[in-house]
Amino acid sequence: MTVSLATKFLDYTYENPFMNASGVHCMTTKDLDELATSEAGAFITKSATTSLREGNPEPRYFSVPLGSINSMGLPNKGIDYYLSYVLERQRKFPDEGPIFFSVAGMSVEENLKLLKIIQESDFKGITELNLSCPNVPGKPQVAYDFELTKEILEKVFSFFKKPLGIKLPPYFDFAHFDIMADILNQFPLSYVNSINSIGNGLYVDIDKESVVIKPKNGFGGIGGEYVKPTALANVRAFYTRLNKNIKIFGTGGITTGKDAFEHLLCGATMLQIGTELQKDGISVFDRVQKELIEIMEEKGYETIDEFRGKLASI
Ligand code: FUM
Repeated sequence: MTVSLATKFLDYTYENPFMNASGVHCMTTKDLDELATSEAGAFITKSATTSLREGNPEPRYFSVPLGSINSMGLPNKGIDYYLSYVLERQRKFPDEGPIFFSVAGMSVEENLKLLKIIQESDFKGITELNLSCPNVPGKPQVAYDFELTKEILEKVFSFFKKPLGIKLPPYFDFAHFDIMADILNQFPLSYVNSINSIGNGLYVDIDKESVVIKPKNGFGGIGGEYVKPTALANVRAFYTRLNKNIKIFGTGGITTGKDAFEHLLCGATMLQIGTELQKDGISVFDRVQKELIEIMEEKGYETIDEFRGKLASI
């Protein structure tokens, strides 16, 4: 029996659905080169702003047994840095799959400006608009404001004609899944990425009787095993509510092939790995694929499409 992890998204078939979550292993061209030549099926750049940002003071990322807490504050090298990288890569390796490019403006105007730069460039890949960073002091997560999200998408799609996905924060109530899905269904989105970290958690070191990260008095986004049930719920909720031409990307708590299988069963098309990539390094992509293939072999599945989205209810 031959198992294939091939995953079609838009017009391209990636070798497998795995990619990094934006923010992890994608800050520099060296990081990005490593991703591009890794076993990941695709990769995404760090969320870019108009100019370089140093981000929040350190320590700003802390690994804990069941996951991570971070308050990076969108450190990045600015849109020009990432755009020249992806344009160059497109030119040099035209047969590689479309690259994913993440942007996260500090305001509506900055988001529009970033997307205009991409629209006017030769970038042929897919853009991810990050509306869910929980870590910039004084800037609430945009996608918790439904009206504002709709307003941004209306403005964006008045000029943006390239494939666009959005990265969402987790939602915790059926009313919010319904409202958000109703808004998203009004736009020609290519995908919705659920979830960003669970915002503003707090991890305590009882020996030091202290928080573990410096920014925001220790409050930060939670990732890793802690968040998997919330991530699966969001993937499932949007998979069952959104038009079928809007695909779901599953992010949150993927540490093993079993977690990946669960995300796919809930309906995910591509799968992003954040905390476990940070912990394990680039070899994580090889391991989770082997684990996923083993599960598919045991179950007699040759392709992901045979089980994607087919989560049973009881
Ligand atoms: O703080 C950060 O850079 C995280 C960004 C995000 O979670 O989108």
